[in-house]
Amino acid sequence: MSSQIIPVDPFDYVVFGGSGDLAERKLLPALYHRQIEGQFSEPTRIIGASRSALSHEEYRKFADEALKKHLKKGEYDKAEAEKFCARLYYVPVDARSDGGWDQLKKLLDEGKDRVRAFYLAVAPGIFGDISKKIADHKLITNRTRIVVEKPIGRDLSSALLLNETIGKVFKEEQIFRIDHYLGKETVQNLMALRFANALYEPLWNANYIDHVQITVAEAVGLEGRAGYYDTAGALRDMVQNHILQLLCLTAMEVPNTVDSEAVRDEKLKVLRSLKPIDASNVEQFTVRGQYRAGASTSGPVKGYLEELEGGVSNTETFVAIKAEINNWRWAGVPFYIRTGKRLSQRVSEIVITFKPIPHTIFEPAAGRISQNQLMIRLQPDEGVKQSLMIKDPGPGGMRLRNVSLDMSFAESFNARSPDAYERLLMDVVRSNQTLFMRRDEVEAAWRWVDPILKGWEETGQSVQGYTAGTWGPSQAIALIERDGRTWHDTL
Ligand code: BG6
Repeated sequence: MSSQIIPVDPFDYVVFGGSGDLAERKLLPALYHRQIEGQFSEPTRIIGASRSALSHEEYRKFADEALKKHLKKGEYDKAEAEKFCARLYYVPVDARSDGGWDQLKKLLDEGKDRVRAFYLAVAPGIFGDISKKIADHKLITNRTRIVVEKPIGRDLSSALLLNETIGKVFKEEQIFRIDHYLGKETVQNLMALRFANALYEPLWNANYIDHVQITVAEAVGLEGRAGYYDTAGALRDMVQNHILQLLCLTAMEVPNTVDSEAVRDEKLKVLRSLKPIDASNVEQFTVRGQYRAGASTSGPVKGYLEELEGGVSNTETFVAIKAEINNWRWAGVPFYIRTGKRLSQRVSEIVITFKPIPHTIFEPAAGRISQNQLMIRLQPDEGVKQSLMIKDPGPGGMRLRNVSLDMSFAESFNARSPDAYERLLMDVVRSNQTLFMRRDEVEAAWRWVDPILKGWEETGQSVQGYTAGTWGPSQAIALIERDGRTWHDTL
């Protein structure tokens, strides 16, 4: 079963950093899939732009290799790849000089009426330079949008500056701040689950929900990104953006519509209601970890410091936080967050644990009554699970058992699960900002994260070692067990 594909208007996508890692691994394969599924209208072009001196032909070859390398088995089709590569162009440009910009303008002038999207898959340090060059060379039409990748700042003041710089050239409705977690199928499904069913919303509050857990665990280590990662750490890399977005979609009030402003207004209110964590309580509510040598599924792996090649570092590769939302709906309901690299397995999930039943009518021999849980699995095996207590079948008297209604999207729909970028890249062309972060959201997220960073600095809270391939430092287990709860067993 697959949904109907509605073609988008013809477009020119200009990818700055077009020969870089993101373009190679994610953007080109995602655009290829959209072509195969019939979403493009002609004429549509993808224009790579970066400092490398490549010809159109060399860029097409690069893209073809990227598809062969990064598409899943059986997805590469020679004829489709040729058709895809034929729509690719390349212009060498320098963000800091005028080199290449006239050539880019000439190419874009051939498609003046098309949607024009500039994708900045480059270091944030040159967002401002590129935006200015785009304006100076008069490349902005009334159908132009700009897409920016994280990190949007490394703290509140740098985020304000970055937003300010881009905002000088583009209007807010032209700026698409991408958070690829929002493009994941299950994240969008969270809205369907909450707002297209009568079942959950009446229970979705502090009267019925005991606590929420958000886990984004990765099995990988630094993947050659030490230079960036060591200056960021897990809080900046994952919590400020992806995890806070998941928390917002879980906790927000029902928006009036799925319109981008309505949804983002509600998310913003959640961010603004987060209970502050600062030097006074940071040690109580947060745990920082750093992996040591251990094992992954593929064998022994180095520790973080060894991956840094002998460096000394207090950067966290794991963080656990007990967050709280100071509003009527969520008063007293903890949101436990954890994320880290080199954990036991790759899994991202949101688990809602409901309160215990108020009174039991069953004899102790019937067994323990577990609290109901709703598990929303983002990856791998996207799906939704609802645990329920039932009577164990058979004549043995009343014995209770905890079972799950388990829906795996892959099994239920027998459809390819599109990569998050596919949906988001097309939303840019359609000019739908619902799944993109608005300026005030990014800034509100930093307003909560900044005092945690400062708190760590002021208190000197250091990283706790954990063995690669485990679930993080023991202090993270203690963080939740102090409250009489345990982390959800993801296995
Ligand atoms: C990125 C982070 O935003 O998300 C990476 O910078 C992380 O460190 C990645 O590995 C995780 O994304 P996904 O889609 O693989 O869960």
